[in-house]
Amino acid sequence: MRDTMLNYFKEVFGDTDGVKVFFAPGRVNLIGEHTDYNGGHVFPCALTIGTYAAVRLRKDRKLRFHSMNFTEKGIIDSSLDDLVYKKEDDWANYPKGVLWALGEHSYNVDKGFDIVYFGNIPNGSGLSSSASIEVLTGFIAKQLCGLDIDLIKISLVSQYAENKFNGVNCGIMDQFAIAMGKQDHAIFLDTSNLNYEYAPLELGDAKLVIACSNKKRGLGDSKYNERRSECEEALARLQTVVKIETLGDLSEEEFEQHKDVIKDEVLTKRAKHAVYENQRTIHAVEALKANDITKFGLLMNDSHISLQHDYEVTGIELDTLVESAWKQEGVIGARMTGAGFGGCTVNIVKNDAIDAFIDNVGKEYEEKIGYKADFYVVEIGDGPKEL
Ligand code: GLA
Repeated sequence: MRDTMLNYFKEVFGDTDGVKVFFAPGRVNLIGEHTDYNGGHVFPCALTIGTYAAVRLRKDRKLRFHSMNFTEKGIIDSSLDDLVYKKEDDWANYPKGVLWALGEHSYNVDKGFDIVYFGNIPNGSGLSSSASIEVLTGFIAKQLCGLDIDLIKISLVSQYAENKFNGVNCGIMDQFAIAMGKQDHAIFLDTSNLNYEYAPLELGDAKLVIACSNKKRGLGDSKYNERRSECEEALARLQTVVKIETLGDLSEEEFEQHKDVIKDEVLTKRAKHAVYENQRTIHAVEALKANDITKFGLLMNDSHISLQHDYEVTGIELDTLVESAWKQEGVIGARMTGAGFGGCTVNIVKNDAIDAFIDNVGKEYEEKIGYKADFYVVEIGDGPKEL
């Protein structure tokens, strides 16, 4: 891949003197959805697919961005002195946002660069292609400009960029999972304090299969921010009767005891999901540690049901993929992953059932939805690195 990236760079910028090549992964979340902005737990892992960049530092403060995924956009010009959101800069607002956010946090990026990106994460699939570009850019700035910043801080600055520069109020899960990825391990992260633990993902005779609905979603124009404010409102109402900082502070019993104060059916459902999903995530990790993959899978299924009925972020495409998956032989668990409203599902499928799974779910999906889903058997990889 290093040579391919060098060739891309040459194609776009002429030569490859002094060019370095970097990689940052995408991520899939196994369980713990829409809990990260509610002070709950998440359990994502980094993938071996992700975003590559070939980059060369400049002597001046200019920035020149190019993506092999959006060649029609050509080279997008900017400068360290003009780091403002511009609609016409399109995808380049992600790296621009990170460079801006680094400055806001007093990290001194004092030279511009020429950079070519290439991602092999399906775009808009909910596998965090944008967080992958962000963390990659932060990591590159650290390496090229010698910034004294660690990977967790890079993830926080990237989240800040997404929140304040690109206007999506996302939590920390994606950027953290990408920055801190570890081969063959999922990350059990408590988003209330960023304590985390790596858990080996030993699936025995099964693998992770991702099904991409090909229904595109952009977080910005989805109902993501709306869900977040619904949770904030439910929390504010609960706080009038119980001393909590976040919905993640409540057990299921405490929630049931106090929920009447919310006095709104929709808000109650949203909060219920946040509380129960957090507890499910804790139980799922316990099950995994006890080698009980069957229980882990059942909790994944419950997570989907809750996202479908209480949080209402699935939609017919994701529900079709998941409901079809549940009917297949050899499926240990299946659920939507990421923000929802399109994007992907994550499935744990026994090795000898994978071909039939892809065939059957693929057929049922196309018949019902009218276009194809894509399937990927994925592996869990490391965080950002230089190649
Ligand atoms: C998106 C956000 C994350 C998280 C998930 C839902 O991926 O970027 O912060 O909220 O949705 O779990």
